[in-house]
Amino acid sequence: MQKVPQTTLNFNVFPIHYSLEFEPDFSSWQFRGKVVIQIDIRKPTKLIKLHTKELQIKDAQLVQNGTFGAQIHVDEPKQELQLTFPKVLRGKAVLTILFQGTHNEGMYGFYRSRYMLNGKEESLLTTQFESASARACFPCFDEPFFKATFDVSLTVPQPFTTISNMPIKKEITIAGGKKQVVFQVSPKMSTYLLYLAVGNFKYVETMYRNIKIRVYTVPDKIKYATLSLHYTKTFLQFFEQYFQIRYPLPKLDMLAIPDFASGAMENWGAITFREIALLGDEHTSVVYKQNIAITVAHELAHQWFGNLVTMQWWDDLWLNESFATFMSYKAVHDAFPEWELPLQYFEDTICNALGADQLISTHPITVKVNTPGEIDEIFDSISYDKGGSVLHMLESFVSEKIFREGLHQYLQRHAYSNATKFDLWQAIQGAYKKTTITAMMHRWITQPGYPIVMVSKSKLGFLLQQQRFTLKQKTFPTMWHIPLNYVTADGIAKTALMTQKTLTLKEQKGWIKLNSGQHGFYRVKYETKVLQQLGEGIREKRIAPVDATGIENDLFSLTIQGKYTVDDYLKFVENYCVDAQYPLNSSVSAHLSSLFRITYRKKAFREVRRVSVLFHGNLLKQVGWERKPKERNTTAMLRSMSIYMLGMAGHEATLRKASTLFKQLRTKNTIDQNIKGAIYTLAAWQGDEKTFEYFLERYKNEELPEEQRKLLRSLAMFQNAGLQQRALEVSQSKTVRLQDSMMIPMALSANPMCTLIWPWTKSNWVGLMKKYSTGTHMLPHFVHNLAGVDTPEAYKEIQHFFSLAQHKRDDIKMAVTQTLEKLDVLMHFLEKNKVK
Ligand code: BES
Ligand code: ZN
Repeated sequence: MQKVPQTTLNFNVFPIHYSLEFEPDFSSWQFRGKVVIQIDIRKPTKLIKLHTKELQIKDAQLVQNGTFGAQIHVDEPKQELQLTFPKVLRGKAVLTILFQGTHNEGMYGFYRSRYMLNGKEESLLTTQFESASARACFPCFDEPFFKATFDVSLTVPQPFTTISNMPIKKEITIAGGKKQVVFQVSPKMSTYLLYLAVGNFKYVETMYRNIKIRVYTVPDKIKYATLSLHYTKTFLQFFEQYFQIRYPLPKLDMLAIPDFASGAMENWGAITFREIALLGDEHTSVVYKQNIAITVAHELAHQWFGNLVTMQWWDDLWLNESFATFMSYKAVHDAFPEWELPLQYFEDTICNALGADQLISTHPITVKVNTPGEIDEIFDSISYDKGGSVLHMLESFVSEKIFREGLHQYLQRHAYSNATKFDLWQAIQGAYKKTTITAMMHRWITQPGYPIVMVSKSKLGFLLQQQRFTLKQKTFPTMWHIPLNYVTADGIAKTALMTQKTLTLKEQKGWIKLNSGQHGFYRVKYETKVLQQLGEGIREKRIAPVDATGIENDLFSLTIQGKYTVDDYLKFVENYCVDAQYPLNSSVSAHLSSLFRITYRKKAFREVRRVSVLFHGNLLKQVGWERKPKERNTTAMLRSMSIYMLGMAGHEATLRKASTLFKQLRTKNTIDQNIKGAIYTLAAWQGDEKTFEYFLERYKNEELPEEQRKLLRSLAMFQNAGLQQRALEVSQSKTVRLQDSMMIPMALSANPMCTLIWPWTKSNWVGLMKKYSTGTHMLPHFVHNLAGVDTPEAYKEIQHFFSLAQHKRDDIKMAVTQTLEKLDVLMHFLEKNKVK
């Protein structure tokens, strides 16, 4: 067991308290800083190592029975500041460092973000430190294990608002129209959670207990802030009750930042968001509204999972991200049960994770990482969604009550400190009072991939066999302890724990449905006859929608793997799923959409298109074109999906109706937000240069983030290659913010008429590597997206291209390997199905 956490520094010097002073400059975009660190030197040494990145170190001194100047050395590749002192040091000491840094525009460290106000460009300053960018703001022990308390002071021009993790303690007016703002001391926490902001913000506020909650935006957008203010209060209360542990800070700020690399960041007491993930109003469409709620809840969950209790090292990142993913749905579901989030959790989290984890080159949830690039790379669907799925499985195994009790113990025991997965098992096992948890969970967390259970009829009942499932077929010795739930043909629900390679269920009825409720993280393969019977069960609605989705989802993966043909899959859909309910209809729709793109204009396309039109035509008939007052959120989503799919398939009536709506929209703005994206897409799909100009003009003048995103995406949906090329150019121009600059290239990969992505990537790669620095996590996303390229030539080229040293980077190693594997799978699939 890992008792001593990993570090790239030394375990001889520990920070206890940081006093930080910053003075930013709004014209040179440089800041001056001073950090005073109380340290504890536990092993005698002359050398003290800290992290630093892109800072100029001016001076370093240590006080301990006298004052000692340090010999300063910066090791840039290692991002280390090495201070050597004239004598051997031990015990408590005070280290003072003076430094200077730049407010970059790359969205990491202490960075600059721009926005418009009354026709004039303004700037604000904000920070993003996770995973390893606190060191780009001040020299520090920049690893999660080195928790300390912080006090911060910011010297800024009078009119600005300043924000940090804690409330302001005092403001001192100083010469030259400036003020020095001093914040209260923070609790013990990791460096990646520290936050600083300076700018002209507006806010709305409310109270919960004695906690002041505020949502901050740039001045023009404050009208979109009340929705999330309400969410924040609701979910904060939920988490306090669920964990039975109070939110420990006196205030909670939520900030919408105009330039933001990811979706949101959980800085303790000062959470930052991309505008689109925080701002909305009553017109916001259900997808975006749900996303705001889930994002707010996710970051609030981190205030406990991550901030109060932090993983020892990044190899247990899942302790942060999986829990936040899992808990966010719980909180939102509690407040909005009518949104049916448990069903969406299955589709968006569990199915998504099963999809990501079926590559040989996947990684276990616990993963060895060392460099900042490697750490960045694991903020992926394994750490978020697979972890979230496995937690869901564990909860359903031990019961909600015991699970919650275990979490409470875990948080209580390790508050203001760090923990590992073993601490978590111990806490849950303690509540469960049986010793099976560690053995079971350890396999799910430390082994890559997941099992498929093969079901066949035997004399004794049903024979089950487990083995690891990968799209590229290969045999592995890996085994799991699988908690099984199943129903028999007479509707009786049962459970079993499969700990061996095989297990016989002594059931004599015609069929069983394994993984009932779909709480388990595994796939199932049935014999053809059983599958048929299950299909009939689906058609006659004897099988619950979520179980039906599980069956269909597994069948689709087996089709991509090559165990079934595309025809088999399409027949299954046509025979059994045409009248499906949510989430089955949504799952089928997504799979037809992906087949549609893969086979586009190839031989197999005819049949895919036929079934897709049949399926979506029926779906659209069910849900109708018009939004109904009390309809399910998912109905709104399905409506837009079926309009899109029918339109893309060239379905005349749909295209006509879509054009009419588009014309209406151009004259008066009356169209349902929920289908707007689809209507734009189809307008672009059928559009010419004039339509392109129309979207571009509107994009330039739009201030609402949701609308901006729809307009930007539509620029990528033209059939004409010249316009696609222009879209790429626009995406890299000043017109589009850095944070959104990958939206067009990514959307183009979904455009079946686009073949530009790989050639464009190739010729722009060196520039792209510069543009998307490691701290932003953007480049790995982009690489994953290349899996849409589907010719054998491109595969070889991509492989060769990324094998060259000058094209490599630490944070895309895994993304490249996984993309190549996906392409390889795709080529085999195309061959096997004679898609040509
Ligand atoms: N801790 C992350 C933010 C983050 C992401 C930091 C990547 C460093 C690298 C935050 O809690 C998060 O997970 N944000 C998500 C949104 C969430 C709703 C899934 C994101 O940014 O995508
Ligand atoms: Zn998170």
